[in-house]
Amino acid sequence: MYIERLRLKNYRNIELLDIRPNKKTSVLFGDNAQGKTNILESVYYCATGRSHRTSNDREIVMFDKEAAFVKLEIRDDYGRLDRIDISIKSGGKKGIAVNGMPVKRIGELLGIFNVVIFCPENLQLIKSGPGERRRFMDMEMCQIDKLYYYNLKQYYKVLKQRNNLLKKIKSPDDTLDIWDLQLAEYGSCLISQREEFINKISDIASDIHGKITMGKEKLRLEYKPNISKKAFYKKLVQNREKDILYGNTSSGVHKDDIIFYINEINARDYGSQGQQRTACLSTKMAEIELIKQEKNHYPVLLLDDVLSELDKNRQEYLINNIADVQNIVTSTGIDENIKSMCKNGSIFFVKNGNIEEKK
Ligand SMILES: Nc1ncnc2c1ncn2[C@@H]1O[C@H](COP(=O)(O)OP(=O)(O)OP(=O)(O)O)[C@@H](O)[C@H]1O
Ligand SMILES: [Mg+2]
Repeated sequence: MYIERLRLKNYRNIELLDIRPNKKTSVLFGDNAQGKTNILESVYYCATGRSHRTSNDREIVMFDKEAAFVKLEIRDDYGRLDRIDISIKSGGKKGIAVNGMPVKRIGELLGIFNVVIFCPENLQLIKSGPGERRRFMDMEMCQIDKLYYYNLKQYYKVLKQRNNLLKKIKSPDDTLDIWDLQLAEYGSCLISQREEFINKISDIASDIHGKITMGKEKLRLEYKPNISKKAFYKKLVQNREKDILYGNTSSGVHKDDIIFYINEINARDYGSQGQQRTACLSTKMAEIELIKQEKNHYPVLLLDDVLSELDKNRQEYLINNIADVQNIVTSTGIDENIKSMCKNGSIFFVKNGNIEEKK
């Protein structure tokens, strides 16, 4: 699967853009604040129906314009062309169409086009808070499994309603039970799905990590649910008094975490910075392989300023292992690795929201 053409209009600082990325590598060169990440963001948006860096769609529309537009054409491995059209109004209302047909729910968009985005923050995955690790699970799983997306959406909807009710009532009542039952139902499904996902990604990441460290380190990811599936409802009931006091649901899958082990030692507590970053790289690369396994095609890989964050060996490992994956890479400067990537690819210069291909 690869992007054949990307068009943007009034997308952040980009007034007009029309590019045909290389089937392999496209390097977006430019100084800071020129629009490189904006371009990657628009591609990510087409895969997931949302931005990877804001939940406020209004930000995406160019200042003083009425709407932003993204048009993406994707060719799959069998030669079939799909078109995704996105429009975002300055008020924040968005419209999505696939092959000209309006999409009513994001779920209908998910899975048509897959991306993996890799930014420097991803190298902090082990060190950062559990929220980031849940986000990592959710972002990847929603693209692979529509049912997961549906369960997650329902879970958070019910959670919000339960929290609203907790703030209003003084003691547990019957309405709370309705939400608790639903929360337990969706939560239990999510636990099973997350468990399966983490086991799969752990196996792949472990393989990759073994190769990067030349067999010295064994990486393992372990899913840590906040409540067990069986005890979900019971725990919610037990927590009721406390939850009413704090006006918040204290247990559930919204508190889940993932633990990274290197040689069976918790990498967050005991790993060196380098070990943690390598484990994050292995996990990120495992995402690409997992999409290939699950969807039968490679995703498009978006590398945002990430190469300069890696040492020479890790850079080389990454570059050598994405040969089959269309990748769009941003860079502010030219070094040896970027030069070698440009050899089989296309170069675009991004300046002040304008993009020009180097012929
Ligand atoms: N809605 C908007 N309208 C106009 N310009 C915007 C809007 N949103 C963001 N920008 C501008 O886009 C620019 C940032 O673009 P982007 O984040 O893509 O930069 P970049 O090339 O990736 O830079 P860096 O190398 O620092 O990451 C900023 O100058 C910002 O002011
Ligand atoms: Mg950027």
